[in-house]
Amino acid sequence: MLIKQKKILLTPIERDAMRVAGRFNAELMDFVRPHVKEGVSTGEIDRMVHQYTLDHGHIPACLGYGPAKNPYPKSCCTSVNQVVCHGIPGNYVLRPGDIVNLDVTTIVDGWHGDQSETFIIEPIAGEVRQVVQCAFDSLHLAIEALTPSCSLDLIGQVIARHAAQFRFGVVDKYVGHGIGRRFHEPPNVSHVPTREAKSQRIEPGLCFTIEPMINGGSKKTIEDTRDGWTVRTADGKVSAQFEHTLLMTETGIEVLTTTQLGPQRGHKF
Ligand code: MF3
Ligand code: CO
Ligand code: CO
Repeated sequence: MLIKQKKILLTPIERDAMRVAGRFNAELMDFVRPHVKEGVSTGEIDRMVHQYTLDHGHIPACLGYGPAKNPYPKSCCTSVNQVVCHGIPGNYVLRPGDIVNLDVTTIVDGWHGDQSETFIIEPIAGEVRQVVQCAFDSLHLAIEALTPSCSLDLIGQVIARHAAQFRFGVVDKYVGHGIGRRFHEPPNVSHVPTREAKSQRIEPGLCFTIEPMINGGSKKTIEDTRDGWTVRTADGKVSAQFEHTLLMTETGIEVLTTTQLGPQRGHKF
């Protein structure tokens, strides 16, 4: 983007609105989580996400998002195995050995909550489990490292260092983002260190996502030219991702998209 936009810092009232949006999004994930299993199609998962969101009076942010010439056609993203992100739900039926990332985003009274989890359809290969664990741990290590007004670059440093221990690839083409009244806003939240992030701080009032995509092999990705959305690993190895929406306050970081039912820091897959 050519125009450099300023980061938005939320007032106390706006922070509460984001807490409400994050909590609803987490409850949506809680509702869908038990249904992500062998024999279920990604399209069925999408219909559950869509219906639950509408039943509660809210809006699925993904549906119709993006360029007018190719708006996103579904209410969530389901990214299976070698799909890195933006997988479009359809007829594919989950089967043993698969991993699938479910990414859900809701608009609640004009404010966005955005999160994703990777699910395992047992039994899976040991290396695939390691990729999932690495993605989860790198998200939580990054969250724990953050303090009021810390460098934005800390996120990429922590995630890259963790993934390097396993020689897994950290996707750098797709990033986390500021979030609020808009789905995607400044700053870009890189999952690897960058010069751009080095000069920025995570100030109290900033709402943003962290959503590392960890590849079993190379970090390189290829976008599907037919649907214009699906992103796959270039080498065909698996990719896993976890995402939370976060709020920095004067006293520390808050995870907005979690309830007691979701996987917590330290969870073993
Ligand atoms: N939820 C994704 C994110 O974390 C974005 C999906 S955009 C869509 O930023 F159009 F593909 F749904
Ligand atoms: Co996001
Ligand atoms: Co998301």
